[in-house]
Amino acid sequence: MGVLHNLISIQDLTREDIDMILDRATEMEEVAALRSKILDGKIMACLFFEPSTRTRLSFESAMLRLGGSVLGFADVGVSSAGGKGETLADTIRTVERYADVIVIRHPLDGSARVAAEFANCPVINAGSGAEEHPTQALLDLYSIRKMKGSIDGLHIALCGDLKYGRTVHSLAMALTEYNVEITLAAPEQLAMKPSIIAELKRAGLSVRVVNDLDGAIRQADVIYMTRIQRERFPDIREYDAVKGRFRLKYEDLELLKENAIILHPLPRVDELDPRIDTTPHAKYFDQVEAGVVTRMAILDLILS
Ligand code: NCD
Repeated sequence: MGVLHNLISIQDLTREDIDMILDRATEMEEVAALRSKILDGKIMACLFFEPSTRTRLSFESAMLRLGGSVLGFADVGVSSAGGKGETLADTIRTVERYADVIVIRHPLDGSARVAAEFANCPVINAGSGAEEHPTQALLDLYSIRKMKGSIDGLHIALCGDLKYGRTVHSLAMALTEYNVEITLAAPEQLAMKPSIIAELKRAGLSVRVVNDLDGAIRQADVIYMTRIQRERFPDIREYDAVKGRFRLKYEDLELLKENAIILHPLPRVDELDPRIDTTPHAKYFDQVEAGVVTRMAILDLILS
């Protein structure tokens, strides 16, 4: 087995682990272009119980570029979990017999941890409810380090749905390992969990909480925008009350620091004006590309 076993929560990783993954991802830039046979004969199963474009396809692309193979159902509705009521435990106990690693995305908090308990093979969390999305946090860190030279010393603004957005939960927890200044910008109803704010403060970071976008973007080196997570609201009226509240407009760019970069895990709805896409601030499609090398590094460290 590899250096890592499971990847369930970003909190399971130390700064050294994170730096090791990012360094390996840098080495993977060349491997990604040339392809390799490092994981020849290995099989990755994708168990996606929620929609996905980037996470699933970049995991598959990563595995294929390393010479491995992939399997998974096209849609949860055609699996026994979706169509016949099979439990997560039984699905995992089955799939672990077909694959060397399981990549799981599931709507329930804690689901990846449960899957890891039932699996004898490694499990990678590709999004567990509103809770965590550790591989996204790693590719976000990789993008920041590559685009800004380093992570330490930066002012990072996390903006949008900080309550239900799992990417910002994992990213904020990862940033406790770095020396950064943080602004948390969200509508009051979608504020970051107090436990995560407490962790950021406990790590000695300077944390500012604001309820508007203007206040967040002026001093930031990295503006991390997120989608308001419509599907996670218990009551759609609560979503209607906040939708469209946090939109970065083209005109807002004049407020930004000259070298500020804008990231977004994607998909976007209306929070990023498409006219921003062609400006030097827009880095979200380069961030997508970072998903492949980061996931190549993770698969290699787990399976090699
Ligand atoms: C995110 C997710 O699934 O949490 N997407 C992704 O993996 N890049 C963000 C989102 O859905 O808004």
